[in-house]
Amino acid sequence: MAFENIVFEQSDGIAKITINRPKALNALNKQTLLELQSCLAEVALNTAGIRSVIITGSGEKSFVAGADISYMQPLDPAGGKTFASLGHKVMAMVENLPQPVIAAVNGFALGGGCELAISCDIRYASDNAKFGQPEVNLGVIPGFGGTQRLPRLIGKGLANELLFSGKMIDSAEAERIGLVNRVYPQEQLMEESMKLAAMIASRGPGAVRLCKESVNNGMEMDLNRGCAYETDLFALCFADEEQQEGMSAFLEKRSPKF
Ligand code: HXC
Repeated sequence: MAFENIVFEQSDGIAKITINRPKALNALNKQTLLELQSCLAEVALNTAGIRSVIITGSGEKSFVAGADISYMQPLDPAGGKTFASLGHKVMAMVENLPQPVIAAVNGFALGGGCELAISCDIRYASDNAKFGQPEVNLGVIPGFGGTQRLPRLIGKGLANELLFSGKMIDSAEAERIGLVNRVYPQEQLMEESMKLAAMIASRGPGAVRLCKESVNNGMEMDLNRGCAYETDLFALCFADEEQQEGMSAFLEKRSPKF
C-alpha cells in the first residue's frame, strides 16, 4: 500500500503504520486521516496475513502533535463537525480492528495524537514522550474521542485535570497514571514494541481476536452481561480448529502451530 502521509510496512504477520509528516510533527490533516482509513480497512480484511499492528510517528520528536491546526483554523461549525466525524471514524476503526494495535509513542502525543494513542489497545512510550490534550489552549475541546476515552482509561478526575488545564505530562507521569503501559529509552522503543507485536502474532489469532472483542464490548456492559458475553465467546472458540491445535499441542508437549 502506497500513501503520501503514512508509511505501511508488513513482515512476519506484523503491520507497522508510521504517520509521516515530520515537518508538521506528524499532525493529522484530512488527507492523513483518509489515508489511515483506507490503510486500516485493508488491514482489517487481512486477518490471515496480519496478526498485530504497530502505529508510530516518524522521527524522534513526535508521535502525532495533534490534528492539523492550519487545516482546522478556517473551518466553520459544519466543517468542524465533518472533520471531527472523520477523526472519530478512524479512531473507532483502530479500536475495533480485528488485530490488536500497539501505539509506539515516540515523542509528542498531543490532542488528536493522544486520542489516537488511547484508541489503540496498548501503549508503549519512549522516555522523551509527552502527552496532553491542549485543545482548550486553542479555544476548542478534543474532537477525536478524548473527552470519552481518556476518562474511561485513567478515570474521570485525572482525565479532567488534563482536559481542563491543557497541560503536558511526561512519560514517567503517563506511566504512573496508567496512560501508558511501559516506558523505554527512545532507541529501544521500536524493538520492544516489535517484540510484543511478535508475541501477540504467535498466539492463536482467532483467540486473540475474540479476547479483544470480549474486552471492548464487555467494557460497555454490566458485569453479569459481560460475563455471559464472555461465556458465549469462549464457547465459540470450540468451533474453531485453533482450540484443538492449542490444547492438543499442550498435551503432546509441543509448540502449537497457529
Ligand atoms: C499543525 C503543527 C502542529 C499541529 C506542530 N506543528 N504541531 N502544525 N498542527 N498540531 C508544526 C509547527 O507549526 C511547526 O511548523 C512545526 O510543526 C514544528 O513545530 P514547532 O512548534 O516549531 O516545534 P516546537 O517548538 O518543538 O514545539 C512542539 C510542540 C508545538 C510543543 C508540539 O508544535 C505545539 O504546541 N503544537 C501544537 C500542539 C497542539 O495544540 N495540538 C492539539 C491540536 S488540536 P513550521 O512550519 O512553523 O515549521 C487537536 C484537536 C483534535 O488535536 C480534534 C479535532 C476535531
